[in-house]
Amino acid sequence: MTTTTHLSSLIPVPSGVLQVSRLPHDNQASDWEHGSSQLTCPVRFSLIIPTYNESGNIEKLIQQLSAILDPILPNDYELIVVDDNSRDRTWELAANLMADYSCLRVMRRQGEQGLSTAVIRGWQVAQGEVLGVIDGDLQHPPEILPKLLAAIENRADLAVASRHVEGGGVSSWSLVRRFLSRGAQMLGIILLPRVVSSVSDPMSGYFVLRRQAIAGKILSPVGYKILIEVLGRGEINRIVEVGYVFQEREEGQSKVTWRQYTDYLHHLLRLRLSTGRLGWLSQRLDFPIGRFLRFAFVGLSGLVVDMGALFILHGVMGWGLTRSAIVAAELAILNNFVWNDLWTFKDFSQRQRGKRKLIKRLLKFNLVCLMGVILKVLLLNVLFNGLHINPYLANFLAIAVVTLWNFWLNLKLSWRVTEVTEEV
Ligand code: GDD
Ligand code: MN
Repeated sequence: MTTTTHLSSLIPVPSGVLQVSRLPHDNQASDWEHGSSQLTCPVRFSLIIPTYNESGNIEKLIQQLSAILDPILPNDYELIVVDDNSRDRTWELAANLMADYSCLRVMRRQGEQGLSTAVIRGWQVAQGEVLGVIDGDLQHPPEILPKLLAAIENRADLAVASRHVEGGGVSSWSLVRRFLSRGAQMLGIILLPRVVSSVSDPMSGYFVLRRQAIAGKILSPVGYKILIEVLGRGEINRIVEVGYVFQEREEGQSKVTWRQYTDYLHHLLRLRLSTGRLGWLSQRLDFPIGRFLRFAFVGLSGLVVDMGALFILHGVMGWGLTRSAIVAAELAILNNFVWNDLWTFKDFSQRQRGKRKLIKRLLKFNLVCLMGVILKVLLLNVLFNGLHINPYLANFLAIAVVTLWNFWLNLKLSWRVTEVTEEV
């Protein structure tokens, strides 16, 4: 059966900051009653279905979800498939189903990739007061949705489908998969106890929540674990868990690779940095501590390059000490520039593409670092000759001050985004 896909019916993909608005964007509708503002959303519930190569599952899932939600939320819910340009054209299959399911909307992403950002982009275009996510592969049983929604009606902020409470379980996971999942959970409890131990199944990808719990929060997840991002950055007070059995996949395969595990660790560390004591201090001081720590870490690598180069040039090749020190210092500056451009200030450099801008940043960075070397020598002399501090302690203190100097000047000068190129 040939059917045309109404490409125009696909939802435009949001870009920029991953932030869910208090109210759906294109809905300024509001019921003002006697002066009290009671803003409403066009639908009660928006369920996001992230898909990647789920052509064998998507139609059956939409059927099952509609059969369950039509009776309890007639014309008051929407299903939003967010597909990352699947090779098996899941997005097209889903778009063709829109003719039969008026509640269905489809987004096809062709740039950004990843499960958790797919879910958030879906929430950004959602119209519902209550938001949710369910896997697109029939491994999350739709029949527990009414219980999750009832929990939200009962004033919960978040209702999680959990494999680790009464009525929960996994169909037939291998011992390795069980070990890895539980191991990931333990690691999370160690690194981020407040967040990861607030639910029995922090790895769950099946939950519903009140829009207001995350509205306005800037989310920055990595990889698969969207729930720990919500728990870490949302305003979640009341949580309800509903047991479910994680089903066997019928079609297609899991996309979980080792990458998801390293992403998970990266995600935990990022959340730890931004929401723990350091995050609180960073906000109070209005100083990007996480970014500074990355800058300092890069600076350490520069120290290794400097010392290594000095040893090779002076110790092995017999160059004069001053010439060796100058070349070694420049090599360290180049090393630091590369890592800072790729990692510490990646979000800024990505908005300033092109060779000319890169060279401009390198020259500014070099200038700031050379001024830093002069400052360091001056400081060293003041501390050693003026205050008679031990020369090594004086050197360490001078390096610490110069690192702050270098960081702040590079943040405000070398990587400051001057002309923002249009989004690619
Ligand atoms: N849009 C999009 N982009 N969807 C994705 C991507 C992606 O990069 N990767 C996976 N998905 C979709 C899949 O199509 C599927 O619908 C769902 O996300 C889950 O992906 P799986 O690869 O099947 O994950 P899993 O079954 O091994 O693990 C799931 O269950 C765990 C327990 O709930 C995931 O939901 C995990 O996040 C979850 O922890
Ligand atoms: Mn799955």
